[in-house]
Amino acid sequence: MKLQLGCGPLALPGWINIDNQPYDGVDRVLDVTQELPYDDVRFIFAEHFIEHLALDDATALLRDCRRALAHDGVLRLSTPNLDWVWASHYKRVMTPQEAVLACFAINRAFRGWGHQFLYNETTLTSLLRDAGFARVVRCEYGASEHEELRGLERHEWQPDFDGLPHILILEASGRGGSAPEYLEEPRAMFRRDAAAK
Ligand SMILES: C[S@@+](CC[C@H](N)C(=O)[O-])C[C@H]1O[C@@H](n2cnc3c(N)ncnc32)[C@H](O)[C@@H]1O
Repeated sequence: MKLQLGCGPLALPGWINIDNQPYDGVDRVLDVTQELPYDDVRFIFAEHFIEHLALDDATALLRDCRRALAHDGVLRLSTPNLDWVWASHYKRVMTPQEAVLACFAINRAFRGWGHQFLYNETTLTSLLRDAGFARVVRCEYGASEHEELRGLERHEWQPDFDGLPHILILEASGRGGSAPEYLEEPRAMFRRDAAAK
C-alpha cells in the first residue's frame, strides 16, 4: 500500500491519493491531521504539503505516519528548503531596491500559498527522529534508493544556490529514533508564541 498525502490535483497512479479537497484523482477525501485510517503501509509520499500544516499538526502527522507504516516502510517528504530560501533571497549588504525586494520575497516564502512553517534539513530531521524514525536520509530531486519513490516530484526544479538545493527531500525509515535535546526549547518557545496570538 502506498499513500500520497495532500496530493491536490496531482494524483499518482498506483497510489492511494489523499487530500481534504475532492480534486480529480483524489481517492480519499480526508483531513490527514486526524489519524490516518491505514496500517502496514509500505510508502508514504507528500510533496509541497508539510509546510502547509501548523507545526503541531505536522509533528503529530509525522508520528502518525510512523505508526501507519509497516516496520520497513518509508516516508518521503519533499518541501521548500529554508536554507535555500534564506540564502537565495537575502544578502547582508543590499541596494535599497534589493532590500525591498528581499523583504517581500522572504515574507512571501513564509506566508504565501498558505505556508505555515518552513524547514531546514536539521530541523525536519530532528522532528522525524522525534516522531520515532531511526534513519533519515536526504535525497536528490526524483532520486531514491527505493524504486517506488523515484521520479515522484513534479514541482518546478530550480538550480542549487551556493550548494543548497531548492527543495529539501528527506526519506525516513526504521524505528527507535528520538529527538535531540536542542529541539525542545525553541519548539516550546514557538508554541508559547503561537498560543499567545
Ligand atoms: C500546495 S498543495 C500541494 C499539492 C500537491 N502535492 C503538489 O505538489 O502540487 C497542498 C495540498 O494539501 C491539501 N491539504 C491541506 N491541508 C490538508 C489536510 N489537513 N489534510 C489533507 N489535505 C490537506 C490541500 O488541499 C492542497 O491540495
